[in-house]
Amino acid sequence: MDQALRLLGLVSERSGCVFEIDTIQCGAQHYLEHGDDIEAGGLARCKAADVILLGAVGLPSADGRSQITMPDGKMAGWSPLVRNRVNLDLYANIRPVKLFDGGAIRISGEVRHVWDPDKVDMVFFRENTEGLYAGSGGILAPGGIPQVATDTRVLTRNGSERILRRAFDAARDRRGAPADGKKRVTCVVKNNVLYGCKFFTGILDEVAERYPDVEYEVVLVDAFCQWLLRQPEHYDVVVTTNMFGDIVTELAAVLQGGMGMASGGNVGDRHAMFEPIHGSAPKLAGKNQANPMAMMLATSEALKWLGTQKNDLLLYAEGSNIESAVRALIKSGECLTYDLKGVSGAASMGEVTEAILQELANMPLASPTVPA
Ligand code: IPM
Ligand code: MG
Repeated sequence: MDQALRLLGLVSERSGCVFEIDTIQCGAQHYLEHGDDIEAGGLARCKAADVILLGAVGLPSADGRSQITMPDGKMAGWSPLVRNRVNLDLYANIRPVKLFDGGAIRISGEVRHVWDPDKVDMVFFRENTEGLYAGSGGILAPGGIPQVATDTRVLTRNGSERILRRAFDAARDRRGAPADGKKRVTCVVKNNVLYGCKFFTGILDEVAERYPDVEYEVVLVDAFCQWLLRQPEHYDVVVTTNMFGDIVTELAAVLQGGMGMASGGNVGDRHAMFEPIHGSAPKLAGKNQANPMAMMLATSEALKWLGTQKNDLLLYAEGSNIESAVRALIKSGECLTYDLKGVSGAASMGEVTEAILQELANMPLASPTVPA
């Protein structure tokens, strides 16, 4: 988050746009120190904001087998993340997956250039307020011994319709799949087993009728995991329910260089919150080694969203410029963190931020009167 604030500082300086920044402390460390995972009044202040930027939250428990948990059983860090999603009705979790030219992935500790950047450019729409994460379930423990657990998957017509519509709208605005240029929505389900998925694909058929210009298909989640890696170029817009979306977007992040590159937006009709989708990576804490790009790309998406909301083309263009700055740095192959460069020759987080700021400083400011 500190790196994102440096970036916003430069955007302000360049564009003259003044940001009023309300800093709200939250997360698992905050819970350990203060007994709550967000500071008092924090949720209301999030609601009052024009846009929310969220840093990574959560910490593993001492044995490393679960998370630090609050008395209500929720992970510490739940409030700023999931409670905000539900409170502010941020029903679309939008996760772009793009491999930038020069990007690489780390397998078994080695950095490899295995994907062709032109072949990875898709966006996921994950339903964000219901499904298996709606919190509808519990554990029955007669005599204090846990005997039965349930997690009920809740899908509603309204919840399904609105995420599907968002996905089709996005497909309409995009250039189509890298493989064939076709505007395509891929719906990921398990409709050979689950009622909720039969319901979801039924609504998909209804929504799709209104988008005759967009091709759509249904794929089983297990098969999708395989095809995603084997032919990423086929995918343009992918839409799915909450838990499948959680899992497949993390797999998809491998295609874009790993979690250090993966950002996401939690977007509703009035509010939005942007975040890197990685966790808090405690093993990197305080070492100045983490890749700041996911947070930078989240900031880029936030400014684009805010620019669109406020009809502010300059702000929108600064959002795009941030992405261009990240792209330029990756293309140069210089000054990258260990996840993109390998441990030897890696730059620090601060150096990478500095290099991105330099790239941004060299970019022309868009004229606010010319469409970006
Ligand atoms: C994510 C995270 C969260 C989620 C967890 C921390 C509850 O994994 O944003 O993908 O699954 O919603
Ligand atoms: Mg996740």
